[in-house]
Amino acid sequence: MKHQREQIPEDYRIMNRTPMTPHMSSLRRGQELFATHCSSCHGVKGKGDGPLAAALDTPPASFLDLSHSDIFGPGEKYWIIGKGIPEAGMPGFEDQIGPADRWHLVNYIDFLQRPLRRQTQGHDH
Ligand code: HEC
Repeated sequence: MKHQREQIPEDYRIMNRTPMTPHMSSLRRGQELFATHCSSCHGVKGKGDGPLAAALDTPPASFLDLSHSDIFGPGEKYWIIGKGIPEAGMPGFEDQIGPADRWHLVNYIDFLQRPLRRQTQGHDH
Protein backbone atom coordinates (compact mmCIF):
# COMPACT_ATOMS: atom_id res chain seq x y z
CA MET A 1 0.00 0.00 0.00
CA LYS A 2 2.86 2.32 0.83
CA HIS A 3 4.40 2.46 -2.64
CA GLN A 4 1.04 3.54 -4.06
CA ARG A 5 1.10 6.57 -1.79
CA GLU A 6 4.52 7.51 -3.01
CA GLN A 7 3.24 7.82 -6.59
CA ILE A 8 0.80 10.49 -5.53
CA PRO A 9 1.98 14.07 -6.08
CA GLU A 10 2.86 16.09 -2.98
CA ASP A 11 0.07 18.66 -3.60
CA TYR A 12 -2.54 15.96 -3.13
CA ARG A 13 -0.77 14.21 -0.27
CA ILE A 14 -0.76 17.24 2.00
CA MET A 15 -4.45 18.17 1.64
CA ASN A 16 -6.50 17.57 4.75
CA ARG A 17 -9.92 18.38 3.33
CA THR A 18 -11.67 18.71 0.00
CA PRO A 19 -12.09 22.13 -1.64
CA MET A 20 -15.80 21.36 -1.96
CA THR A 21 -17.99 22.01 1.10
CA PRO A 22 -19.90 18.82 1.91
CA HIS A 23 -23.36 20.37 1.61
CA MET A 24 -26.34 18.08 1.08
CA SER A 25 -26.18 18.72 -2.68
CA SER A 26 -22.56 17.56 -2.82
CA LEU A 27 -23.35 14.42 -0.81
CA ARG A 28 -26.36 13.62 -3.00
CA ARG A 29 -24.26 13.95 -6.13
CA GLY A 30 -21.54 11.82 -4.56
CA GLN A 31 -24.06 9.16 -3.59
CA GLU A 32 -25.48 9.05 -7.11
CA LEU A 33 -22.03 8.71 -8.67
CA PHE A 34 -21.00 6.13 -6.09
CA ALA A 35 -24.05 3.98 -6.86
CA THR A 36 -23.34 4.18 -10.61
CA HIS A 37 -19.56 3.73 -10.73
CA CYS A 38 -18.28 2.38 -7.43
CA SER A 39 -20.76 0.21 -5.56
CA SER A 40 -20.24 -2.75 -7.95
CA CYS A 41 -16.89 -3.28 -6.21
CA HIS A 42 -16.95 -1.15 -3.06
CA GLY A 43 -20.52 -2.05 -2.04
CA VAL A 44 -23.48 0.27 -1.61
CA LYS A 45 -22.33 1.35 1.86
CA GLY A 46 -18.63 1.22 1.03
CA LYS A 47 -17.98 -2.01 2.90
CA GLY A 48 -16.04 -3.52 0.01
CA ASP A 49 -18.72 -6.14 -0.60
CA GLY A 50 -20.02 -5.25 -4.07
CA PRO A 51 -20.91 -8.05 -6.51
CA LEU A 52 -17.61 -7.71 -8.44
CA ALA A 53 -15.41 -7.70 -5.33
CA ALA A 54 -15.04 -11.48 -5.11
CA ALA A 55 -13.65 -11.65 -8.65
CA LEU A 56 -10.69 -9.37 -7.85
CA ASP A 57 -7.31 -10.66 -6.67
CA THR A 58 -7.15 -7.74 -4.23
CA PRO A 59 -10.71 -7.18 -3.07
CA PRO A 60 -11.57 -3.57 -2.28
CA ALA A 61 -11.09 -2.79 1.38
CA SER A 62 -14.00 -1.45 3.38
CA PHE A 63 -14.12 2.34 3.58
CA LEU A 64 -15.51 1.69 7.04
CA ASP A 65 -12.16 0.22 8.07
CA LEU A 66 -10.57 3.52 8.99
CA SER A 67 -7.19 2.00 9.77
CA HIS A 68 -6.99 1.19 6.05
CA SER A 69 -8.90 4.07 4.52
CA ASP A 70 -7.12 6.75 6.55
CA ILE A 71 -3.87 5.81 4.82
CA PHE A 72 -5.24 8.03 2.05
CA GLY A 73 -6.24 11.61 2.85
CA PRO A 74 -8.88 13.48 0.83
CA GLY A 75 -6.47 14.68 -1.86
CA GLU A 76 -5.05 11.19 -2.21
CA LYS A 77 -8.50 9.65 -2.55
CA TYR A 78 -9.29 12.24 -5.24
CA TRP A 79 -6.11 11.31 -7.07
CA ILE A 80 -6.84 7.57 -6.80
CA ILE A 81 -10.37 8.05 -8.16
CA GLY A 82 -8.89 9.81 -11.19
CA LYS A 83 -5.90 7.57 -11.85
CA GLY A 84 -6.91 4.28 -10.24
CA ILE A 85 -4.59 1.72 -8.70
CA PRO A 86 -4.10 -0.43 -11.80
CA GLU A 87 -2.09 -3.16 -10.03
CA ALA A 88 -4.95 -3.66 -7.55
CA GLY A 89 -7.76 -3.62 -10.12
CA MET A 90 -9.04 -0.17 -9.16
CA PRO A 91 -9.85 1.58 -12.45
CA GLY A 92 -9.13 5.28 -13.03
CA PHE A 93 -12.18 7.43 -13.74
CA GLU A 94 -10.73 10.73 -14.94
CA ASP A 95 -12.19 10.27 -18.44
CA GLN A 96 -15.69 9.59 -17.11
CA ILE A 97 -15.93 11.64 -13.94
CA GLY A 98 -14.90 15.32 -13.94
CA PRO A 99 -12.90 17.02 -11.16
CA ALA A 100 -15.89 18.50 -9.29
CA ASP A 101 -17.66 15.16 -9.30
CA ARG A 102 -14.52 13.42 -8.03
CA TRP A 103 -14.51 15.78 -5.04
CA HIS A 104 -18.20 15.02 -4.45
CA LEU A 105 -17.24 11.34 -4.29
CA VAL A 106 -14.52 12.05 -1.72
CA ASN A 107 -17.08 14.00 0.34
CA TYR A 108 -19.49 11.09 0.11
CA ILE A 109 -16.88 8.56 1.28
CA ASP A 110 -16.13 10.87 4.20
CA PHE A 111 -19.85 11.04 4.93
CA LEU A 112 -20.04 7.22 5.07
CA GLN A 113 -17.22 7.31 7.64
CA ARG A 114 -18.68 10.03 9.86
CA PRO A 115 -20.56 7.79 12.32
CA LEU A 116 -17.32 5.86 12.94
CA ARG A 117 -15.33 9.02 13.54
CA ARG A 118 -17.86 10.09 16.14
CA GLN A 119 -17.28 6.79 17.98
CA THR A 120 -13.52 7.23 17.96
CA GLN A 121 -13.43 10.78 19.24
CA GLY A 122 -10.00 12.17 19.57
CA HIS A 123 -9.01 10.12 16.55
CA ASP A 124 -6.15 11.99 14.95
CA HIS A 125 -7.14 12.87 11.41
C1 HEC B 1 -13.48 -2.92 -10.45
C2 HEC B 1 -13.63 -2.69 -9.03
C3 HEC B 1 -13.56 -1.27 -8.51
C4 HEC B 1 -14.35 -0.19 -8.91
C5 HEC B 1 -15.45 -0.15 -9.96
C6 HEC B 1 -13.93 0.92 -8.06
N1 HEC B 1 -12.92 0.54 -7.22
FE1 HEC B 1 -11.98 1.70 -5.82
N2 HEC B 1 -10.71 0.19 -5.37
C7 HEC B 1 -10.78 -1.09 -5.89
C8 HEC B 1 -9.67 -1.88 -5.38
C9 HEC B 1 -9.38 -3.34 -5.70
C10 HEC B 1 -8.92 -1.02 -4.54
C11 HEC B 1 -7.61 -1.35 -3.81
C12 HEC B 1 -7.82 -2.03 -2.49
C13 HEC B 1 -8.20 -1.02 -1.48
O1 HEC B 1 -7.33 -0.26 -1.04
O2 HEC B 1 -9.38 -0.94 -1.13
C14 HEC B 1 -9.62 0.27 -4.53
C15 HEC B 1 -9.23 1.38 -3.80
C16 HEC B 1 -9.90 2.58 -3.73
C17 HEC B 1 -9.52 3.70 -2.90
C18 HEC B 1 -8.33 3.78 -1.96
C19 HEC B 1 -8.57 2.99 -0.69
C20 HEC B 1 -9.31 3.72 0.41
O3 HEC B 1 -9.87 3.01 1.29
O4 HEC B 1 -9.34 4.96 0.46
C21 HEC B 1 -10.46 4.68 -3.10
C22 HEC B 1 -10.54 6.06 -2.47
C23 HEC B 1 -11.41 4.16 -4.07
N3 HEC B 1 -11.04 2.88 -4.43
C24 HEC B 1 -12.52 4.85 -4.54
C25 HEC B 1 -13.35 4.41 -5.56
C26 HEC B 1 -14.44 5.20 -6.12
C27 HEC B 1 -14.90 6.56 -5.59
C28 HEC B 1 -14.96 4.47 -7.14
C29 HEC B 1 -16.07 4.88 -8.11
C30 HEC B 1 -15.84 6.11 -8.85
C31 HEC B 1 -14.23 3.21 -7.22
N4 HEC B 1 -13.26 3.21 -6.24
C32 HEC B 1 -14.49 2.18 -8.12
C33 HEC B 1 -11.70 -1.56 -6.80
C34 HEC B 1 -12.67 -0.79 -7.46
